[in-house]
Amino acid sequence: MNRPLPRVLSAGDAPLVADATQLLVDVFRHDPSWRRRYWYLRANGVRRKLRRYYARAMARSLAHGRVEAVVENGGVVAVALWEAPGTPRPWARRVRARLGRGGARGGAAGRRWHLEGIAVRESARGRGLGGVLLAHGLRSVDRHGAEAELEATTPGSQRLYERHGFVATTRRVSATRPREMDMVRPARTEG
Ligand SMILES: CC(C)(COP(=O)(O)OP(=O)(O)OC[C@H]1O[C@@H](n2cnc3c(N)ncnc32)[C@H](O)[C@@H]1OP(=O)(O)O)[C@@H](O)C(=O)NCCC(=O)NCCS
Repeated sequence: MNRPLPRVLSAGDAPLVADATQLLVDVFRHDPSWRRRYWYLRANGVRRKLRRYYARAMARSLAHGRVEAVVENGGVVAVALWEAPGTPRPWARRVRARLGRGGARGGAAGRRWHLEGIAVRESARGRGLGGVLLAHGLRSVDRHGAEAELEATTPGSQRLYERHGFVATTRRVSATRPREMDMVRPARTEG
């Protein structure tokens, strides 16, 4: 099978970094969490907010974590933003607090690698790219002997994460709101 190899982006890869940031915005404007957060904005307003959010998230991962991407025909079709333990993320924490998700977890400020976002271009989904990207990032987490954490915003993505060893820790269910799930993957030693 022709499995794509994810590559690590650095700040020097400016066009790919811009492409990856745009992909995150394009994909996450459909995400239930963000839609709930910005229910009062029109599409353009949401895009502006997400551009700001993901530009900062990208900068954090470039500086303090890892940005991994699958590039096809010169464009980014999949991207994952990882933050190393201890990554400063005060602004993201404020947003989380506003979303009602608190800020009390060990989080990236603790001992875990935090998956801030993973996105596959819609036209490229279902080919296993999300799984390839996740596995690649987790191999690096495993090399550090560390735990990983993330927040699943859809049941579909939760299934994907479970297949890669994440376990749900906090369930939020309400009749009117989509379900979000904090998930943690225990540390593994390579062997
Ligand atoms: C979640 C996502 C990264 C998966 O990427 P992918 O390349 O389609 O995933 P793979 O082909 O490796 O695996 C497919 C699995 O992804 C999950 N998935 C979640 N949303 C999906 C979607 N819209 N399309 C296809 N698969 C999806 C499913 O678990 C699916 O497997 P299933 O057979 O159990 O349903 C991608 O669908 C995406 O970008 N979704 C929108 C953004 C998002 O939800 N990000 C995660 C937020 S927590």
